[in-house]
Amino acid sequence: MSSDKISWVEISKKAVINNIDVMRARVRPGVKIMAVVKANAYGHGLSEVASIAAAHGVDFFGVNCLDEAVRLRSMKIKTPILVLGYTPLANLKDAVSHDVSLVVYNAETVSRLQEAAAKCKKNAKIHVKIETGLNRQGVTRENLSEFLKLVRSKKNIEVEGISTHYANIEDTTEHSYARKQVENFCEAHEMFNAAGVAVKYRHTACTAAAILFDNVHFEMIRLGIGLYGLWPSKETKISAYERKISEFNLMPVMKWKTIVAQVKEVEANSCIGYGCSDFVTQASRIAVIPAGYYDGYDRKLSNSGYVIIRGRRAPVLGRICMNMFIVDVTNIEGVKSEDEVLLLGASEDDAISAETLASKIGTINYEVVTRINESLPRIVTA
Ligand SMILES: Cc1ncc(COP(=O)(O)O)c(C=O)c1O
Repeated sequence: MSSDKISWVEISKKAVINNIDVMRARVRPGVKIMAVVKANAYGHGLSEVASIAAAHGVDFFGVNCLDEAVRLRSMKIKTPILVLGYTPLANLKDAVSHDVSLVVYNAETVSRLQEAAAKCKKNAKIHVKIETGLNRQGVTRENLSEFLKLVRSKKNIEVEGISTHYANIEDTTEHSYARKQVENFCEAHEMFNAAGVAVKYRHTACTAAAILFDNVHFEMIRLGIGLYGLWPSKETKISAYERKISEFNLMPVMKWKTIVAQVKEVEANSCIGYGCSDFVTQASRIAVIPAGYYDGYDRKLSNSGYVIIRGRRAPVLGRICMNMFIVDVTNIEGVKSEDEVLLLGASEDDAISAETLASKIGTINYEVVTRINESLPRIVTA
């Protein structure tokens, strides 16, 4: 832990490796694994997770933006990288010069990328995103012929892949919409074949799709939440069970910790914290926890979260503040300042899962981990 940091995130190397291996075993041999490390590796730490995943032989990295790709290149990571989000026209040349592939769906991007590639005297690698039903990024079926004509006319453009993303996999156990998207994707791929545009990688599968359906793995899967040892949703777990898909031992990668800043006694009938939103009816012992909503500990955990100290649960009293909050340690023997506090993750025989925190604040596990402030140190543990 660096000296001025009082809250930190531990990343288990063993868990990252386990999760890659589990997913490798799920797909047929030869299917590539893209480690999706966008958004600071879902809050786990871009450089920390990417170093482990690169050393463990993942085939691709998926990032949101060129900045993240350049950070990986500056770490001397040679693994292919795909920018999944939007790349502004002004940055296309940098993408080519750093040998970064781009998800592309706009005609203007293709034209400007050709110019950039010609200037760099290199090929630009693109993955054409196909709109199959999410109605987010993607070339629509109506525009695909025109788009293919344009791509074919640009000699420095190499179609490295085609991709799509599912709208309704994690939220349901009824997957007819996803099946329709696969059909749409395969029809679009036929159009590439008919136009004589060869495609090296077809990729559609996020974690849930990769776990549930063999026929969507194609040449590559895009592994996000599963890389971090988290299930995409309760519905995905139920679907896997219903489909008799063998037990998946995903291991959560993250523990978020801090230390107790102060312990003190309060009298019976004392208000606790801003807005006097909590009140103790009996004489109590409270502990001040030096983390708050700035750090990513959501304010909606006011009066409802809990932390683990000395292996025991300490409930949140009152409001989560910007940089601290208060917990009740009346029933935990011997708590003192600088005792370790677990905010998220497993202790020896208890846990505060991202799912538990998510359900308390009305969100998903993805958001809980991703929103942990990037400024907190990420520490790799064995
Ligand atoms: C385009 C794309 N592919 C793959 C993923 C990874 O999905 P998951 O985290 O569910 O595996 C995401 C995540 O948001 C995404 O946006």
